[in-house]
Amino acid sequence: MSRPPPPAHAPDAVHALVAGHYERPDLERAILDALASAGKDPDRLTAADLAPVDEFHTGGRPATLEFAQAIGATQDMHLLDVGSGIGGPSRVFASRYGCRVTGIDLTEDYVRTATALAARVGLGDLVAYRHASAVDLPFAPGSFDGAYMMHVGMNIQDKAALCREVRRVLRPAGVFAIYDLMRTGEGDVRFPVPWAATAATSFLADPGEYRRALVQAGFAVVGERNRRDFVLDQFSRIAAREAQDDAHGEVRPLGIHILMKSDAAEKRGNVRHAIEAGVIAPVEMICRRNASSA
Ligand SMILES: C[S@@+](CC[C@H](N)C(=O)[O-])C[C@H]1O[C@@H](n2cnc3c(N)ncnc32)[C@H](O)[C@@H]1O
Repeated sequence: MSRPPPPAHAPDAVHALVAGHYERPDLERAILDALASAGKDPDRLTAADLAPVDEFHTGGRPATLEFAQAIGATQDMHLLDVGSGIGGPSRVFASRYGCRVTGIDLTEDYVRTATALAARVGLGDLVAYRHASAVDLPFAPGSFDGAYMMHVGMNIQDKAALCREVRRVLRPAGVFAIYDLMRTGEGDVRFPVPWAATAATSFLADPGEYRRALVQAGFAVVGERNRRDFVLDQFSRIAAREAQDDAHGEVRPLGIHILMKSDAAEKRGNVRHAIEAGVIAPVEMICRRNASSA
């Protein structure tokens, strides 16, 4: 599919807009209050208690569990989480597989919240988070056994720079796994969506553009799955649960609406509409850094 390239934006200006879209200074407090309202004791939390709120991507925790299997996570791995958000996926890799995970994220409120939540669930020794950009990683070459990125590429215009930078910090033959919403058909996306208020910070690309950037950077794409049906099924399950709660007059204090703020319902509706219309789809790509490239 050929589309005109988007206009180039100054990276720093885009970074500020992206971080501004996500930031919420009272986030940790809001999550702890919601947990308390949902009947959880904030002083005795487990990683599983956080699942409704800390997986900021389509498919939620079930998607992360299937993604971890596709990556082949093992206890001896040190993984980089690119755009770690408030840390849900990293805590799954640490608590279920024993991996060490370092997350980086552009949004300082998220880095702070991720660090605080990891300490609360007793994972502070296995996971750590830093404020950084995916296209300028603060790590030495070959620092990680693997890297992954969940629903972050939609905010990154320069996919080539992203892939080069991830390749640089991976050891030879290290895995790089991507789970992003990608453009799969013609048509407009309605805004706002969970990752952007307007088109100014939305850089959807089609799977071919990802593959080209990956191969040029020195990766082999070894697996690819379109997760549309899986995610639409998850959406239906959530809608059924919510309808049941509504029927019983129950409120849902805990959920990613806390991260999406006041227009959460509109953002969710727009992303579901775009997936159902075939304009975008959640796509998983599993890649290996070429052993031979410098
Ligand atoms: C939709 S959230 C996904 C968070 C997390 N990966 C998850 O699945 O729960 C997108 C995240 O990407 C981060 N992000 C966007 N652009 C980034 C960049 N250039 N470098 C680092 N993080 C970025 C945002 O701050 C936000 O936390």
